[in-house]
Amino acid sequence: MSLKSDNIILTGFMGSGKSHLAHYLAQKSGFWFLDTDDLIESEQQRSIKEIFASNGESYFRAMEAQVSGWIARNVRQSIVATGGGLPIYYEDVTEMGTVFYMDISFDAILARMDSEQKAKRPLFTDESKARELFSEREAHYKARAHYHIDATMPLDEMVSFVAQKSGLFSL
Ligand code: S3P
Repeated sequence: MSLKSDNIILTGFMGSGKSHLAHYLAQKSGFWFLDTDDLIESEQQRSIKEIFASNGESYFRAMEAQVSGWIARNVRQSIVATGGGLPIYYEDVTEMGTVFYMDISFDAILARMDSEQKAKRPLFTDESKARELFSEREAHYKARAHYHIDATMPLDEMVSFVAQKSGLFSL
């Protein structure tokens, strides 16, 4: 896999801590912060939950592909938190930058999530289906990333790992 641009892309299952780490990385690196779900919600002026309910998942996946292509073509020096399904449906995720997969077990995710966090995610309303989805996806996440981060590490250690592996900023 070649490194195409100087963005840092965080991938991983819902609740794996992508946005949390991305904010922190942006602070530490001085890079801009982007979240693909936020970009889609602001363009559509409605929530992900509403998009799924009114137009269905495939419509949302098409939007994710559009946003990903736009990032690959136009965005530089940014930290990008991706929606949990993005690298599953958009295989060219590495075109956007250096991809870090947030590696964490499903049980550890469950232990961190409260009911409000589950409720805003249409694919997390049924816990056993979410668990199945996690097992189906795990190998794809790993294969479509340049690096795997142990997402149970303290934030500072994750930031050092990203700084060192990406070589894009120093602390
Ligand atoms: C999804 C994850 C969500 C959001 C949508 C679908 C998925 O993002 O994109 O609800 O398919 O895993 P987060 O990973 O930020 O929760």
